Amino acid sequence: MPFGKKPPSRRGSLSDVPKDLLKQIERLEEIFMVKTDKLKEITDHFVGELTKGLTVEGGDIPMNPTWCMGFPTGYEKGTYLALDMGGTNLRVCEVSLPEEKGEFQIIQSKYRMPEDLKTGTGEELWGYIADCIHQFVEYHHEDEQDLETLPLGFTFSYPATQEYIDHGVLQRWTKGFDIKGVEGTDVVPPFEAALQERGLPIKLAALINDTTGTLIASAYTDEKTKIGCIFGTGCNAAYMENCGSIPKLAHMKLDPDTPMAINCEWGAFDNQHKVLPRTQYDILIDKDSPRPGQQTFEKMVAGLYLGEIFRLVLVDLHQTQECLIFEGQDIGKLQKPYSLDSSFLSAIEEDPFENLSETEDLFQKHLSITATKPELELCRRLAELIGTRAARLSACGVAAICKKKGWTECHVGADGTVFNKYPHFKARGAQALREIFEWKKGMKDPIVINPAEDGSGVGAALIAALTLKRIQEGNTAGIRDVKALIEGTAAQKAETDQVDE
Ligand code: BGC
Repeated sequence: MPFGKKPPSRRGSLSDVPKDLLKQIERLEEIFMVKTDKLKEITDHFVGELTKGLTVEGGDIPMNPTWCMGFPTGYEKGTYLALDMGGTNLRVCEVSLPEEKGEFQIIQSKYRMPEDLKTGTGEELWGYIADCIHQFVEYHHEDEQDLETLPLGFTFSYPATQEYIDHGVLQRWTKGFDIKGVEGTDVVPPFEAALQERGLPIKLAALINDTTGTLIASAYTDEKTKIGCIFGTGCNAAYMENCGSIPKLAHMKLDPDTPMAINCEWGAFDNQHKVLPRTQYDILIDKDSPRPGQQTFEKMVAGLYLGEIFRLVLVDLHQTQECLIFEGQDIGKLQKPYSLDSSFLSAIEEDPFENLSETEDLFQKHLSITATKPELELCRRLAELIGTRAARLSACGVAAICKKKGWTECHVGADGTVFNKYPHFKARGAQALREIFEWKKGMKDPIVINPAEDGSGVGAALIAALTLKRIQEGNTAGIRDVKALIEGTAAQKAETDQVDE
C-alpha cells in the first residue's frame, strides 16, 4: 500500500455478524480506539514527562545521557566489532567504515538467545555471549594481534545509567528478561571478565542502546535524521539534546551547546497512569509481567505484547462474556500466556481473502480452534484495533520529542520488527502525526518516519569510532578507561582520523 494511504475498511463485512458479537466489537472499538484529541493530550503530557526526566528529581521516563556527543560526519573510518544483544537474537558483527562518505561493510553472525537464558543467571548470560564472540572471532580472525586493535561497540538494549560511555548500570530488565543479580550493577566488568576467561583481548569502547545506534547510523547516511526509534519487541527512542537543557548533568559543567544523545527509555512513559487509555487487558498484562508497574507505554505498543493483548481479549470473550466465541471448543492452547506473537496478528491483518480463509487456517493450525465466519470477522477487527492503537500511540512519542525540541521538520530513523513487518504500521503512524500536528491536507509530511540503517551494528561501530575520535581530540568527558582505549586502539588512530572533506 502506498505510504500514507488509509488501510481498507472491512466495515461492510460485519453485516452478518450476530448482534451479541457486534456489541462486543463495538465495546472493543470503544476501548481500543484513540481519537485525535486523546492523541494530542497524550503528546502534551509526553512533552512534560520528557522534560521532567532530564531534571535532577527525574520522572517516569529515565532520559539517560549516553555520552555519545555528536553526529558522525559520514567520513568515520576503521574496523570495529559490534555486539548486539536484542530481545530475541544475539548478533556479532565486524563493521568496516571505508573512506567513502556514508559507506560501510559488515560481516555478521546471528545466534539465537536461548529462552532459558532470559531467566537464568548473569554468569550464564555473559558466558554465552562471550562464547558467541569467541566463535565469531575464531572463524574470522586467526590473528589475535589484529583482535586487540578492534574496538567493540556493545549494543545493550535495556535501560542503563551511564556515568561513562564504556560502562553502564542496568536500571531494570525489560522485554520479559528476568536475570537475577544484574539489575543495579555495572554490566561491563562481568562481560569483560567473561571475554578475558576465554583469552579474548577485546576492549569495549562504547556501551550503547539500540535507539542511539539507530539515531547515529541513520544520521550517517541521512543528515536530516534527528530521532532514532525502535518499534520492535520493545519500544524506545533517542535524540540529540544540548547539555544546557539537561539539568541533571549541570554538575559536570559541560558546554551548554555541546550535543548529548539521550536514550529516552520512553517505554516507561505514564507509569503513573495519568493519561494512557489502558484497558482491562493492559492492566492484566502488567500484573502478570515480571516487572509490574514498569514500562506502561511499552506494554501497550511493543511487539512482545501485541499478541498477548489479542489473546487476553479472546480468552475473556470465551470465558467471562458467557462463551460468546469458540463455543464448545477446547481453548487449551489459547490459554497459554504469550502463545501468540505479533506475527500472528500481522498474518490476520494481511489475510487477503474476503472469507478470511487464511485466518481460519491460522486458528486451526496454531490453536486447534475452528472459528466461525463471524468469529473470524471479530478477530480481524480486533487485530486492526490493537495494531492501530500501537501505531497511533507510538506516534505520540515521536510528536512529543519534536514538540519539545521545536522541530517542525525532520526525519526519524526507525527499526524493529513491528515497524518493518507489521502491516500498515507506518501509514497509521503517519496518519496519527498528521492529526496531532494538523498538517494541511495535500501538504508533504514535514516529519517523516523512515526505515533506519542498522543501528546495533553500524551504529555501534560509529559510536565506538566517535568515542575514539573524542579521545584523540582531548575530550574525555564520560569516558572511563581512556588509557586502555588509547593503548588498545593505537593502531586504529590513523584510520579514525577524519579525512578532510
Ligand atoms: C528497552 C530499551 C530498548 C527498547 C527497544 C526496551 O524494552 O528498555 O532500552 O531500546 O526496548 O529494543
